[in-house]
Amino acid sequence: MPVDIQSPSLCLGIVGTGAMGRGIAQIAAQAGIRVLLFDALHGAAANARETVVGTLATLADKGKISADALAAASTRLEVVQRLDELALAQVIVEAIVEDLDVKKALFQQLEDIIAADCILATNTSSLSVTSIAAACKRPERVAGFHFFNPVPLMKIVEVVDGLLTAPWATDALLELGRRMGHTAVRAKDTPGFIVNHAGRGLVTEALRILGEGITDFREIDCIMREAAGFRMGPFELMDLTGLDVSQPVMESIYHQYYQEPRYRPSPIAAQRLIGGLLGRKTGRGFYDYAEGKPAIAPDAAAPAALPDRVWVSQTHPEWADILREIAAATGVAVESDYTPGSDTLCVVTPLGADVTTCCVEQGLDPQHTVGIDCLFGITAGGGARRSLMTTPLTAPAMRDAAHALFTADGCAVSVMRDSAGFVAQRIVACIVNIGCDIAQQRIASPADIDRAVRLGLGYPHGPLAFGDTLGPRKILAILEAMQDFYGDPRYRPSPWLKRRALLGASLLTEAR
Ligand code: NAI
Repeated sequence: MPVDIQSPSLCLGIVGTGAMGRGIAQIAAQAGIRVLLFDALHGAAANARETVVGTLATLADKGKISADALAAASTRLEVVQRLDELALAQVIVEAIVEDLDVKKALFQQLEDIIAADCILATNTSSLSVTSIAAACKRPERVAGFHFFNPVPLMKIVEVVDGLLTAPWATDALLELGRRMGHTAVRAKDTPGFIVNHAGRGLVTEALRILGEGITDFREIDCIMREAAGFRMGPFELMDLTGLDVSQPVMESIYHQYYQEPRYRPSPIAAQRLIGGLLGRKTGRGFYDYAEGKPAIAPDAAAPAALPDRVWVSQTHPEWADILREIAAATGVAVESDYTPGSDTLCVVTPLGADVTTCCVEQGLDPQHTVGIDCLFGITAGGGARRSLMTTPLTAPAMRDAAHALFTADGCAVSVMRDSAGFVAQRIVACIVNIGCDIAQQRIASPADIDRAVRLGLGYPHGPLAFGDTLGPRKILAILEAMQDFYGDPRYRPSPWLKRRALLGASLLTEAR
């Protein structure tokens, strides 16, 4: 018999009252649900209740909830001293230590206590729901209910179907997540579920760019924030999370997917973890946090000397027009000849390729040539950041002249060494590709993938909508060019992306 989630007398048991258990208790009590709190550590559940009531009181003081709501929510939070007092609950959420054997043992104990139709949910972020369920007598009522920290602010919950879970159990948890005011998405039990799986693209590719010596971490962060629209750059994010948390997640998902190259971690992060450069929590990560805030150096002054003449590649005519306008506005002579003059600055517009390859293909002088990323940040005067790339042979004077030219209208410019796909193109292409492969594996619906990533990772778009906004064909072209250049299956396009790009269809399209 499925549980009546909307019932006013619904009772939720929470086992484990650390940060996660407390957060789940708060939103449940605020949603009118009776909550029983249990923790193995003596006094921990009572402390948790006090903390949650204190948080609700602060919300009431700030006028965010009424005094009545505070009183009502507080009375709904009850501490129990023994596990068997959870017999009253219709749903039990476990948020104890992240240890498979401990979780299995708890669920086995709970099975002897609870009612026949009680749902057992685990908040695990990295363990297999199927494996926890398989230890139970009735695995069909065991499912994942994965919240994010801090629970009241991260308004997303992944409801996870284990291999043995009955749909009625996950249906009920989806409804419960929504009743608690969260967006509830459904995912298959796979490593990282949706959010921690989709999050592999940003950090691993950023670390790879760093490892390749293309540019430094500050520049990568600036590009991802100012040109690609992310709230936080990948290195700021790793510093915030702490490498003690993010590196084991990178390793674990990579190995659980049997060394899938798309998720390959970086020795840079592994070594920094060993060195104790964890991030904000240790005062030193990629950035220094001596004053509590990251010490992010400002841009160095841009060179001022403009080139005499500029020539723009016609490989992408729509981009060439914009670049010629930007150049013309500075008063620089823009050449319209098919072949550039011998001392002219040549500008190419790579999509997934590097400048060297463009130079050779277009018969240009590598000493005079730079590349500019036209997929991100070329709108004139838009305040975005532009990315410029050099070949190994580009003359410093030509590089500086290009820098001066593209910063003349007030845009910030990042100058980097040659890279197949600059910084933003390759990172965003990896994010979109992984999102597409999550859809291809049917781990979640396209709409749920995008919802989960927007809310769980705070990206400007979900990966599939991001690909649609930039153009699936362009994303495919970037990945194919990168795979061609590096010969690395890391960049092989997901069949989901390839088919939809070839057909001109949205990446959000489900197969009929
Ligand atoms: P925590 O360590 O702050 O709290 C765990 C609580 O569980 C402690 O109060 C401990 O006394 C209690 N406990 C441990 N073993 C127990 C047992 N056998 N029976 C009853 N109580 C027990 O942990 P936190 O951060 O609240 O995480 C809890 C769970 O939520 C873990 O499974 C974790 O993977 C998951 N999670 C954590 C996130 C986070 O950012 N902290 C995010 C998403 C999921």
